[in-house]
Amino acid sequence: MNKLTIRDIDVSGKRVLVRVDFNVPVSYKTGEITDDSRIRASLPTIDYLIERGAKVILCSHLRRPEGKVSGEYSLVIVANRLSQIIRQQVTLTNDCIGPEVEKSIADMKNGEVVLLENLRFHAEEEKGDDSFAKSLAQLGDIFVNDAFGTSHRKHASIVGVTRYLPSVAGLLLEKEIIALGRVLRNPPRPFGVLLGGAKVSDKVAMLDNIMGKVDTIIIGGGMAATFLKAQFYEVGLSLLDDSIDIATDLINKTTINNVKLVLPDDVLVTDTVNDRGKTEDVSISNIPADKHIVDIGTLTITKFTRALEKCRTVFWNGPMGIYEIPQFSEGTKSIARIIANLHAITIIGGGSTSEIVTEMKLADKMTFVSTGGGASLKFLSGETLPGVEALLDKDTTT
Ligand code: 3PG
Repeated sequence: MNKLTIRDIDVSGKRVLVRVDFNVPVSYKTGEITDDSRIRASLPTIDYLIERGAKVILCSHLRRPEGKVSGEYSLVIVANRLSQIIRQQVTLTNDCIGPEVEKSIADMKNGEVVLLENLRFHAEEEKGDDSFAKSLAQLGDIFVNDAFGTSHRKHASIVGVTRYLPSVAGLLLEKEIIALGRVLRNPPRPFGVLLGGAKVSDKVAMLDNIMGKVDTIIIGGGMAATFLKAQFYEVGLSLLDDSIDIATDLINKTTINNVKLVLPDDVLVTDTVNDRGKTEDVSISNIPADKHIVDIGTLTITKFTRALEKCRTVFWNGPMGIYEIPQFSEGTKSIARIIANLHAITIIGGGSTSEIVTEMKLADKMTFVSTGGGASLKFLSGETLPGVEALLDKDTTT
């Protein structure tokens, strides 16, 4: 990576403003964090700064409060969890800017950690507002971006602050860029990409960018319905995302580039998309007009397994069905177990896919699990991430 990192600068005794992505999943029922991987992923950066006696000022968003203050989106649960993990008090400020916050920071001792309240309680954050960025920047001497998962956003705390502070990468950001960069540079072949989730349109740019390097593209999940429709199969009531032409175009590109395209042979269908829905495994040529596709079928699990077993590099993004509903989750779970046991480089592309492998306790069996959903897709699309671009280059003196 050609950007400076925290290893390249002196942080001791400095106020270090660290943008982290603590946008963790929270249970609607209990209000508890259901997966703290994103908090744990930034520990190397946080520990590094504490050990060197920096004053560590963390800032993050949590979900999308759209500029309104609401207890539901408070980072208090995150501050508590981080305190438990690092066995050290993490003070949550009542806001992310303003005189009270400045006072809390002025009182900090070296090695202490403060977490600023949700950045998105201010609409200016997502607008990339310059005076909001300046107020944030006043809190630190140095800015560290460790929020890989939000680095595709041009928000004030991602890009704006870099105009006012010497800005370097955290250790998680560096790790993500190196691991995902490996997929783009020289992936050991055969290279297989397994995609699921609802939308084809989210993944087109990425598929275009890697078409010349990939050997096999496997499509499951909601987006398989669009590909099947593009091949003139009837898909019943399954949701299509208006991307049939895009799917047709991608199918043509796989032929031109000699890429093997693997689609389901059978799917699980239901008449009611909820946990009372009865399921039936049907061939793709026999999908009833009044039913929805909700998972891949058993023949397809075997077909996908055979294709994955031939690969030396596998990138996976997106569930194979409506994973949240137990009756429709078997395809995703089977595929997760298969990928975890492959003798291959296995990269999991963030978002719900990362949550699934973590929940199944398979994350340690993967080569790399990205913390970025949208960000990892953008990166693999060959797009420059604004939050990375804004950091100091390696050959720039601080
Ligand atoms: C994510 O969960 O992908 C990141 O935290 C970014 O969140 P956003 O999509 O709400 O900007």
